[in-house]
Amino acid sequence: MDETQYYKSVYNKFWVNQTKKYGYAPYEKKLVEIISQSSPERVFEVGIGTGWPIGTALKEKGIRVDGCDIAESAVALAQRELDNEDGIWTGDIREYKGDFVYDVTYCVRASWCIPGFYQTLKKMIDMTKPGGYVVFDVMDKNSFYCIKSRCVQVKEKYYKFLGIHVDQRYGTHYMLLSELKHFLRKNGLRYAFWREWEITGRQDRKNAPKVVFCCRKER
Ligand SMILES: C[S@@+](CC[C@H](N)C(=O)[O-])C[C@H]1O[C@@H](n2cnc3c(N)ncnc32)[C@H](O)[C@@H]1O
Repeated sequence: MDETQYYKSVYNKFWVNQTKKYGYAPYEKKLVEIISQSSPERVFEVGIGTGWPIGTALKEKGIRVDGCDIAESAVALAQRELDNEDGIWTGDIREYKGDFVYDVTYCVRASWCIPGFYQTLKKMIDMTKPGGYVVFDVMDKNSFYCIKSRCVQVKEKYYKFLGIHVDQRYGTHYMLLSELKHFLRKNGLRYAFWREWEITGRQDRKNAPKVVFCCRKER
């Protein structure tokens, strides 16, 4: 099973319940605030999940939310939640062939399960109007959390080497912030960013390596 198929099967089952558990907390509220700050009319979400709570909060502000996700069951729920069957589709953003350009494109709480996220970002930039915004969050590679999960991966590789069965799973994709910032500048984006603990007020840096970026595309 390749990585995309793996995440598709995981998220078809897992995310539908998990999203309610996470709720609509300060982190999600901050994402909505950032995405809606320029009063966009139409936005696109990569990895939209069930559409709740972020898409729902944007829709309540009168914003049309389009999007895509590889998990069909999540897409069916998002289409219903956001009352948008035409604009929400099953698949990877890199398959998008349309030429519509959005006020804001965003990818939140999903980048770490998308291999080759730079390609996704490039596509998001192309799908954004000049002067529009690209918003996303990433997991910081320079974090204890990343080191911890690498140790687990090494342990699992060792078990496999010994012939001990471990369930196949793919790890989180962490991003190097210095490399990411260079990529954004090279692609004509000005950016601001916030670390998760700055948003939530929880100083647990070991478990909060998310960093939110809000980027403006040059006119
Ligand atoms: C943690 S959920 C977040 C959903 C939503 N963004 C939210 O914040 O509620 C991650 C989502 O990304 C989707 N996903 C994973 N890889 C993807 C890809 N390559 N293209 C589009 N969606 C993807 C998963 O199916 C899942 O629904």
